[in-house]
Amino acid sequence: MENITTLGEYIIENQSDFPYSSGELSKLLNSIKLASKMVNHEVNKAGLVDIIGGIGDVNVQGENQQKLDVFANTKFIQAITNRDIACGIVSEEVEDYISLHGSDNTNNGKYVVLMDPLDGSSNIDVNVSVGTIFSIFRRITPVGTPVELKDFLQPGSAQVAAGYIIYGTSTMLVYTTGKGVNGFTLNPATGSFYLSHPNIQIPENGQIYSVNEGNYSHFPQGVKNYIKYCQKEEENRPYTSRYIGSLVSDFHRNMIKGGVYLYPNCVKNKAGKLRLLYEANPIAFIAEQAGGKATNGHKRILDIIPTELHQRIPLFCGSSNMVEKLESFL
Ligand code: AHG
Ligand code: MN
Ligand code: MN
Ligand code: MN
Repeated sequence: MENITTLGEYIIENQSDFPYSSGELSKLLNSIKLASKMVNHEVNKAGLVDIIGGIGDVNVQGENQQKLDVFANTKFIQAITNRDIACGIVSEEVEDYISLHGSDNTNNGKYVVLMDPLDGSSNIDVNVSVGTIFSIFRRITPVGTPVELKDFLQPGSAQVAAGYIIYGTSTMLVYTTGKGVNGFTLNPATGSFYLSHPNIQIPENGQIYSVNEGNYSHFPQGVKNYIKYCQKEEENRPYTSRYIGSLVSDFHRNMIKGGVYLYPNCVKNKAGKLRLLYEANPIAFIAEQAGGKATNGHKRILDIIPTELHQRIPLFCGSSNMVEKLESFL
């Protein structure tokens, strides 16, 4: 591990990237790093401790909440709250936004954090990789006043940072602050994340398409036509179909190898399944920062003005040429 940069060193060395950060955004990123290590510790021994399975509750999404959903949600909220830097949090697992009062009982935090504490919950009990996704904005309301709904309903283009952690064969933290995308891998021996994937660029083209083909019969005709295009024996096709069922893992693979991820709207899910604020927006910010694209089929994800905290949106993202080809079918 000679002179490989740790995540902590990288954050400090690059905090000048933020025109207005006085180290607060760095502290926020460090709190997310800390929580990710705690979640990673539980994920790695899931099955040995009482952390898998459901808790018998249904979350605001109508999903059966898994113990790890709740554990991860608690750990990230605790870590972010303890730093007095964020004034509010939105979580997939909590219906309303969480207002964070500073130690002096005022809302002096300059940032809001929106997160999917555990992405790919259906994979927890079957030992398939899962993740965490986060999105950070500067607040709109003045420092010292209560955070309001509008602080969270900003277009994705206003994000100051976004990232994800994958708890997979190795644990990686990938994030952007608008100056490119960098990936850090956790060394379990030292408990530190090390810069392993500097300046990630999504190949413009790829041979992989990722979609839950079980929903094929419910897809819009244009999506059906694109899937048939991917499967047709001509030119450099048929493509390979790869679908893990964890957005972070499917997206990360496509980002490294090239590929396109599709979660379309369908009869069952009229606006699709994925949530705009803490899945599509952060993934779209990362995709574009790595030279890729992210759209709802007709509009750039980052240009969409949110109206509700948990609103869903169709998501098509990955290699720029593949997303453009897909859009031509829609
Ligand atoms: P979450 O576990 O946070 O609710 O997200 C699950 C999402 C996403 O991770 C994944 O790509 C997608 O749901 C899988 O949905 P299907 O099982 O319907 O394919
Ligand atoms: Mn998710
Ligand atoms: Mn989730
Ligand atoms: Mn969920």
